[in-house]
Amino acid sequence: MDKKATLTLHDGRKLEFPVLSGSIGPDVVDIRTLYGKAGVFTYDPGFLSTASCNSTITYIDGDAGVLMYRGYPIEQLAQHCNFLEVCYLLLNGELPNAKQKSEFDGIVTHHTMVHDQLSRFFNGFRRDAHPMAVLVGVVGALSAFYHDALDISDPRHRTISAFRLIAKLPTIVAMAYKYNMGQPFIYPRNDLSYTANFMRMMFAVPAEEYKVNDVLVRALDRIFILHADHEQNASTSTVRLSGSSGANPFACIAAGIACLWGPAHGGANEACLQMLEDIGDVSKIGEFIGKVKDKNSGVRLMGFGHRVYKNHDPRAKLMRETCHEVLNELGLHNDRLFKLAVALEKIALEDPYFVERKLYPNVDFYSGIVQRALGIPVSMFTCIFSLARTVGWIAQWQEMIADPEYKIGRPRQLYRGAQRREIVPLAKR
Ligand code: CMC
Repeated sequence: MDKKATLTLHDGRKLEFPVLSGSIGPDVVDIRTLYGKAGVFTYDPGFLSTASCNSTITYIDGDAGVLMYRGYPIEQLAQHCNFLEVCYLLLNGELPNAKQKSEFDGIVTHHTMVHDQLSRFFNGFRRDAHPMAVLVGVVGALSAFYHDALDISDPRHRTISAFRLIAKLPTIVAMAYKYNMGQPFIYPRNDLSYTANFMRMMFAVPAEEYKVNDVLVRALDRIFILHADHEQNASTSTVRLSGSSGANPFACIAAGIACLWGPAHGGANEACLQMLEDIGDVSKIGEFIGKVKDKNSGVRLMGFGHRVYKNHDPRAKLMRETCHEVLNELGLHNDRLFKLAVALEKIALEDPYFVERKLYPNVDFYSGIVQRALGIPVSMFTCIFSLARTVGWIAQWQEMIADPEYKIGRPRQLYRGAQRREIVPLAKR
């Protein structure tokens, strides 16, 4: 049965719109013809009730605390798959069989080196530049290095660019870190896994051999899996909007990275760790929570709350588990900030302020502690998130380009500025 929604306007006109159903999740009212029929727009700043596209990639049920990539629950993916299998899944819709996996891993592995001239690009940045500033610039610059496959109407070109981005992001992120540290760049090694190779490029120095620790590699791989996609969030919508004009994928991903940098999005784990440092001790939690509840203080409990999850963020639970594993492996189970985070989480979850507003820990609450334990400096956290999210951005961009309904994104506005007026000559103003 065709579902319909009826809108009654202020002048009494009744208009009918189709209601579209997805495979799961709420129905959406298709209002594309609203302006043509009635001459009015809808008003929805922040897209609180607006579906900007249709997608088959990621599903979130924020009330139930569910996250699935291509139908697979995040808990199962985190337990049974590695990051490159998840990349294959996000890009192709299905998990790979053994042959497909080996081919896919091989292609990614053989694209990990960057054009040698790109290394000189780094010299244009100050050493103390934030690595995210460097990342935005260098990823944007990739289109100047790999312009042999930038025809976005050619599916083969799109696939080549996708492989390049997924394969080269770890190399570029590690280079941004090494540049900041004043250490030489470490070239990728093709006999290592994607994540082990990244850790080596980050932490090896030419003077000594780097020992891969499987527990730590698995932890970082899980961070990558948990951050790989999250449907139409701010940075993904930025990538889609940039791509809707026909911009090349490197430019679109650079735009996504810029958006992710903000503290309300990807920068939250950095802000969360800073918050734990500022609180300093379990005895100060009460005072801090008091500030959070005081609307005039402007203080938020970082790593808590989410636009979509009004229940536990399933990624936060997996991240807490990984946090335990990493701290145990490194003999840091008495880590001061971890203990503080656990105590803060417990107190907040019992406080009516957070309960009433359905504010639960999100993925960032524990990811900063894990990354710090892995030796990743705070300023690199959002770069790690960018690395992991690149596959999601690319999958969403690919989906958009291949969608026959895709159009340039062009929101409308409710104009509240001055009405027409005439210029008064300068001498008379
Ligand atoms: N601490 C204190 N109060 C909060 C918080 C928080 N972290 N988050 C929301 N609130 C309050 C907010 O003040 C408001 O209260 P009231 O109704 O009295 O005005 C109510 O909860 C609803 O907040 P909102 O700002 O309308 O919610 P939103 O959906 O627009 O914001 C958010 C979502 C993630 C921006 C917000 O929860 C936040 O700022 N959290 C802290 C930053 C953070 O951890 N961000 C990472 C998000 S997860 C990573 C990702 O997926 O990118």
